[in-house]
Amino acid sequence: MKPATKAAREALTRAAAAAHGVHLRDMFAADRQRFARLSISWNDWLLDYSKQRVTADTMGLLQDLWAAADVPGWIALMRQGAAINHSEGRAALHIALRHPAGKGPILHGGRDVMPGVQGELEKMRRFAAAIHGRHWRGATGEPISDIVNIGIGGSDLGPRMATRALAAFRHPELRVHYVANLDGADLSTVLAGLQPRTTLFIIASKTFTTQETMQNAASARHWLVQALGEAAVARHFVAVSTNLAEVARFGIDPENAFAFWDWVGGRYSLWSAIGLPLVLAVGFDNFSRLLAGAHAMDEHFFSAPAAENLPALLALLEIWNSNFLGAGNRALLPYSQSLSLLPRYLQQLEMESNGKQIDRQGLPLDCSTAPVLWGEAGTNGQHAFYQLIHQGGRLVPCEFIVCRQPDFPLPGHHEKLLANCFAQSEALMRGRTLAETTAELATSGMAPDQVALLAPYRTFPGNQPSTTLLLPRLDPFNLGALLALYEHKVFVESVIWDINPFDQWGVEYGKQLASRLLPIIEGKAAAAALDSSTAGLIDACKS
Ligand code: F6P
Repeated sequence: MKPATKAAREALTRAAAAAHGVHLRDMFAADRQRFARLSISWNDWLLDYSKQRVTADTMGLLQDLWAAADVPGWIALMRQGAAINHSEGRAALHIALRHPAGKGPILHGGRDVMPGVQGELEKMRRFAAAIHGRHWRGATGEPISDIVNIGIGGSDLGPRMATRALAAFRHPELRVHYVANLDGADLSTVLAGLQPRTTLFIIASKTFTTQETMQNAASARHWLVQALGEAAVARHFVAVSTNLAEVARFGIDPENAFAFWDWVGGRYSLWSAIGLPLVLAVGFDNFSRLLAGAHAMDEHFFSAPAAENLPALLALLEIWNSNFLGAGNRALLPYSQSLSLLPRYLQQLEMESNGKQIDRQGLPLDCSTAPVLWGEAGTNGQHAFYQLIHQGGRLVPCEFIVCRQPDFPLPGHHEKLLANCFAQSEALMRGRTLAETTAELATSGMAPDQVALLAPYRTFPGNQPSTTLLLPRLDPFNLGALLALYEHKVFVESVIWDINPFDQWGVEYGKQLASRLLPIIEGKAAAAALDSSTAGLIDACKS
């Protein structure tokens, strides 16, 4: 972290030592106002962090860290379009993608990016209207019934997650599918249920060079051309990319290419034309509401003081848990089937952004950065890995997300979902002492020797920190705000850790080695200078 944060860090280290051995249940017992003190509202959201191992003093020290790291100064740089992605010489202006038309310019290199942003949005709107209105016809004159988005990473996870999240808003007739994996099983199983005549492919790739996407696109093209001939490509393929020259080389009509810009990082690109499959899935009006929600969160992030700023609070709590209490992970637990892909989406957003070990000066960091993010929709996770969180002996900060109202209101379901969510955070916080367990088993009529035998197994340490984010409902506006919340959380953390969250050089090395191994596996090059394991594995495949 930056030298300027030294005093704040030292104070936090002392606070962490003092907090050692203090149990959350005792904190609640000592302060009846704890929930009121350590929870905040925004719009009709509620963020309850009273079950985190913090006091009001700890929060004050964390806010000192925010100030010492000059987070407000970095927010200003982001908004000005400065090249804060310094290792790639780029701005990070995803906020422009949800900036409302007519609300003033957003400058990049002295030029307003908003006319370009609005132009692409309008093109997406018209395209969706043509597909939904059945005016866009395939090569045989039939309307499109199935969309297949081919992309990976940021060109897949965002629209895929949001399409599931907004399932309640889906277009009744159009089906939207996603293919990402290089494993032919992914494309093959999706295509197995489709007809070339009524299928439209979106090839989504910022660079239009990503191996997985290009291979899947080539195989999809082959599938279509075999059935309908080469001339059909123009009616069945559109592309989303920053590399329009490569799009044209693939044979996609430039009219059917949707652009975005190098100042949009892949994992921040849902709001751009990368959101096209989502527009088709839920309609342009709902996509506009998603953008409006994200913009509302942007405004909140830019203006609220750290103590009332949702992204700041989530970031500061993560830093407290990981850098001062030593947690190496965080469990994301949405009690919402529709948000079941959120953990996967946030794995890229958080870990690809902040999984770094070199600071902005090019020096090794003196602290750990992004903790491992994992998770699963509740209540499913309760029947899989919660045992470890309750009794596994590891510190696992948990983040619960739940909505007051269901998006699919089946009688009897939602109250039980809420009860389970709140019960888990309560159990994780309180735990159950040996004395309590012993008393409970004895009252149940169990024989004393059995009670003595079983009580230790049924005792829970508790003191497991958690945050609960309670949303009114899962709709496009709230989803947009939720995703923007996490984008800004990641940014705040990066500023405090003094790292660049917008590059991902770590991913490149594996890609480079895969290109070196491919000709060896294909038998076109000799295996030279390989370690014995890699060489042995390749030999085993060939034989
Ligand atoms: O995984 C590395 C990465 O570069 C991601 O950052 C990106 O979202 C993904 O590959 C896909 O890249 P593209 O959109 O250029 O195909």
